[in-house]
Amino acid sequence: MREAFLLLTAISMNGFKEPGMRKVGSYSSMADGDDLDLSRLPDRPKLPIERQRSCDERSMNELSINVRALESFDSLYSPGGMRSGFSTPASTARNPFEPHPIIAEAWEALRRSIVYFKGEPVGTIAAYDHASEEVLNYDQVFVRDFVPSALAFLMNGEPEMVKNFLLKTLYLQGWEKRIDRFKLGEGVMPASFKVLHDPVRKTDTLVADFGESAIGRVAPVDSGFWWIILLRAYTKSTGDSSLAESPECQKGIRLILTLCLSEGFDTFPTLLCADGCSMIDRRMGIYGYPIEIQALFFMALRSALTMLKHDSEGKEFVELIVKRLHALSYHMRTYFWLDFQQLNDIYRYKTEEYSHTAVNKFNVIPDSIPDWVFDFMPTRGGYFIGNVSPARMDFRWFALGNCVAILSSLATPEQSMAVMDLIEERWEELVGEMPLKVTYPAIESHEWRIVTGCDPKNTRWSYHNGGSWPVLLWLLTAACIKTGRPQIARRAIELAESRLLKDSWPEYYDGKLGRYIGKQARKFQTWSIAGYLVSKMMLEDPSHLGMVSLEEDKAMKPLIKRSASWTCPEISLDLIL
Ligand code: GLC
Repeated sequence: MREAFLLLTAISMNGFKEPGMRKVGSYSSMADGDDLDLSRLPDRPKLPIERQRSCDERSMNELSINVRALESFDSLYSPGGMRSGFSTPASTARNPFEPHPIIAEAWEALRRSIVYFKGEPVGTIAAYDHASEEVLNYDQVFVRDFVPSALAFLMNGEPEMVKNFLLKTLYLQGWEKRIDRFKLGEGVMPASFKVLHDPVRKTDTLVADFGESAIGRVAPVDSGFWWIILLRAYTKSTGDSSLAESPECQKGIRLILTLCLSEGFDTFPTLLCADGCSMIDRRMGIYGYPIEIQALFFMALRSALTMLKHDSEGKEFVELIVKRLHALSYHMRTYFWLDFQQLNDIYRYKTEEYSHTAVNKFNVIPDSIPDWVFDFMPTRGGYFIGNVSPARMDFRWFALGNCVAILSSLATPEQSMAVMDLIEERWEELVGEMPLKVTYPAIESHEWRIVTGCDPKNTRWSYHNGGSWPVLLWLLTAACIKTGRPQIARRAIELAESRLLKDSWPEYYDGKLGRYIGKQARKFQTWSIAGYLVSKMMLEDPSHLGMVSLEEDKAMKPLIKRSASWTCPEISLDLIL
């Protein structure tokens, strides 16, 4: 309450007036019924597990006061945007009347990373690291990396670059994509693109990579999902639905959906993926049904549902999405969820069960449960595990997947709370000295050799193998706000603030506690910068959350009776639509 109180006092004492007409947060003109209603957030769901009262119990009142206070304040926004440049207090724990000094530096660094095509801003490069000899592909605009940049600009009232980016990538989607003699699916979105400037001819050319140049030659499954999620964020933030409704965007959405909703040999509603197809773009044993992709898949489906027109072409997809969401949420909430009780159940599983009555459906052998998970699992808390497939459960924690599960409401309110409980209970392991571990724990020795193929970049507690990635801060912050626990985000942001600028915005940190700048980490990594700014702005103005969050869909209530899942549950279309 202290901060909010101080802010309010400041308003009345100094008699500040609203600095002109400026919007706070996102428009909510989409007819999607998924708006985040902040007034409903204080209704904390009851957990079956007894939870201790954390210091966050006070948080939502505090947040709603903060929103009101911010109607009169600008604080974290960068000059150059539509927001006024009025440099006024930010409610940081340090001193509520001064924005943190690194905010201005962050904005400057973010603006430096902007890429122009024919004079128009179209994205931000992955890293602006002059000191690094090896540029590799860090001079490109990555779709996934641009998301936090886009959110920062949207929150700052600068939607233009985001629109340009969405249109440019849509145009690139239309390219014919080949790897050797094989043609990729039409809907694949690029992993990254580059603008080639020819100073003599004065021309700009776009060059895209769909995985055909990427290390490992894997197509980015996440790109299309991020594109849909960003299109919704743009629409919500600007109130301009004409872009999403344009025939080009509608087609783009449908092409992405065609790739992931087509029928095949699948027995699960989850999406089968190759290793390296997401943010973790090297071999890390995530092949199969990785949580990172399943959560993004779910969020993209729900986002698409809010934007697809119910015309002759869109209608069919709407029906497919509704069916898939129903099955996917059941599958994920039931089989990917792990808490103390569930772990104990798996530990006692019988094996070789045949027929529909099987409890251990995937024939997971209890001996395959790794030792670490028994100690790691708190009595209070839980999470979505990394992967579930026949006789295989990857018990590792993946931060992005769990945060996106909360934001998309793939997680039930109880599960969302339990994930936050876990983060609190296992703070040292999952956050340590730098938020946030991309995966936990690291794989080592023989397992590292087998799983990563002896990858020298992914040694234990480095990079994708248990490294700490500052970009994940924005996802954590959003999840904290959604679950009414901003205090957790504040703690994490303070940790990041103490290092990021000083260390020149590294891509990742290494070590069990995330204390060391990553072995091969780039400096001035754009999404580390943007992720920090987005976290700050969201915490200051929680109504921004609506851009990246979808409310729970009551029609997707979990059916927890495991042995009955083979029956086909009926779908209440009208409730979802
Ligand atoms: C690395 C990361 C990937 C990111 C890219 C550009 O390859 O693993 O997630 O998109 O760098 O920053």
